[in-house]
Amino acid sequence: MDILDQYKEVRTYTEQICKPLQTEDYVVQVAEFASPAKWQLAHSSWFFETFILLPHLPDYKLFNKDFPFLFNSYYNNAGDRVLRAKRGNLTRPTTDEVYAYRQYVDTAMGQLLNQKLDADIVQLVTLGLHHEQQHQELLLSDIKYMFGQNPLFPAYDSDTSLLDQERNIETGSVKIPEGVYTIGYQGEGFCFDNELGVHKVYLHDFEIQKGLVTNGEYLDFIKAGGYKDFNLWLDEGWSWLRQNQVSMPLYWHEIDGQWMHYTIKGFQKINENDILKHISFYEAMAFAEWTGMRLPTEFEWEIASGQLNWGQRWEWTNSAYLPYPGFKKADGAIGEYNGKFMINQMVLRGASMATSPKHSRPTYRNFFHPSAQWQYTGIRLAK
Ligand SMILES: [Fe+2]
Repeated sequence: MDILDQYKEVRTYTEQICKPLQTEDYVVQVAEFASPAKWQLAHSSWFFETFILLPHLPDYKLFNKDFPFLFNSYYNNAGDRVLRAKRGNLTRPTTDEVYAYRQYVDTAMGQLLNQKLDADIVQLVTLGLHHEQQHQELLLSDIKYMFGQNPLFPAYDSDTSLLDQERNIETGSVKIPEGVYTIGYQGEGFCFDNELGVHKVYLHDFEIQKGLVTNGEYLDFIKAGGYKDFNLWLDEGWSWLRQNQVSMPLYWHEIDGQWMHYTIKGFQKINENDILKHISFYEAMAFAEWTGMRLPTEFEWEIASGQLNWGQRWEWTNSAYLPYPGFKKADGAIGEYNGKFMINQMVLRGASMATSPKHSRPTYRNFFHPSAQWQYTGIRLAK
């Protein structure tokens, strides 16, 4: 598929995700970490406008001179911006204006991508598409978070196929022998800079579960007093639990002895056989401690991944998000994409039901703060 077709496919899917929304749903920001849909629709367009159209399409004119200030996310090299926590204040520009902005950027990108392009521009466009795919997953998780805080618990889409495969396909475990293994992306296609450089690690013998932890298994942990036993928790995790009064995963509710949760299909009874989702790293660590097992490191996960059916949940690893040996960030603003976040975050591996098509690799390094619950996160145990 050529780059213009790839561009159209990704941009169309973003708008498809927003199809079930009403105008009011585009604006609200219920937490600093969850951006409004309207902001994300504009921000993913701003990325193409700023990093590709302005420098590479002759005579390109900004759609609106205020938009770079409104829709820059965190690029200090690209100038001042609206504070992250204030993105929900943007009742203007309207949602229609933001869709017109997308259209304007798409027309200009169509002009650019119809020309013969240097490899470095194609590479930048590809990065822009992977960036937009990351926002597609954020859109799905941020929209869920918004509806999950609404007392009416509205369904995002009662017919969605995203929840069709909530069960483990396999059980049992995989054994990996000790040895020296190669880590990092070695293919010819796209990868993020944080998947390089390729390097060797020594792994001891380990065993990793083929299935992910289910709701039923996690319920046993809750019923056994898992949230009340400080011995199971990391110190920071215990403080987080007490400060935020956490006693169950995000979206769970215990109502008259019934365990319920909010899903994108609406409020439902929890199915114990389904794979657990929406837990923090702190919860994953406490649960692992309770079982007498542990979380895998990101290196163990990568080496075992060929023998695992992964892709249902982002799986917390017990690896801090750090640069690989030889990691090099790009010059200028694009260098801010990943490198500057390599502090106070843990690596998640795999992909989730909300991850966009063609956006997964066994070397992919997702990362979030240990307290984050609103992504489609889960637990795979190792020993
Ligand atoms: Fe972004």
